[in-house]
Amino acid sequence: MTNKEIKIAFKEYESLDQLEACDRTLAEAAIEATGQSYAPYSNFNVGAAVLFEDGVIIKGANQENAAYPSGLCAERTALFYASSSRPDKAMTGIAIAAGQNGKLCADPATPCGACRQVMAQYQTKGGVPMKVILVGSEKIWVFDKVDDLLPLIFDSI
Ligand code: THU
Repeated sequence: MTNKEIKIAFKEYESLDQLEACDRTLAEAAIEATGQSYAPYSNFNVGAAVLFEDGVIIKGANQENAAYPSGLCAERTALFYASSSRPDKAMTGIAIAAGQNGKLCADPATPCGACRQVMAQYQTKGGVPMKVILVGSEKIWVFDKVDDLLPLIFDSI
């Protein structure tokens, strides 16, 4: 038997001003996308912004439905729209922000497992690392690639 350990690394920033310009633009797009959320049940407004290799940004927000499982998270709304709009372009980053009552949450909202899996597959499809930026009003976390949020990614088939 061998004990194994997986370590993940990420960077924490205190404000948007500290980010590289292109990361800041993506983070601001995610914040803006929170305003496009349709969340009458949870009142939890999540926005996501996907960056392509050529600089194009596509935004999405969570969409809820009275038949609860029919709704979709912001990340997958953005990723599916991004991939179906521009199937031949690689995605190089995604930023995620969440707010309640018009106010950005202080801590970054971390993506659910299903969204991490979907991000992972688009990263594999694109063949380049997809940076993940989780935006809170008091903390911003930056992960260089999806693997850092989802170690031992399932991509076996
Ligand atoms: N939500 C997201 O949009 N992304 C996540 O990663 C987790 C949760 C949404 C789903 C639902 O509309 C609301 O947040 C509350 O769970």
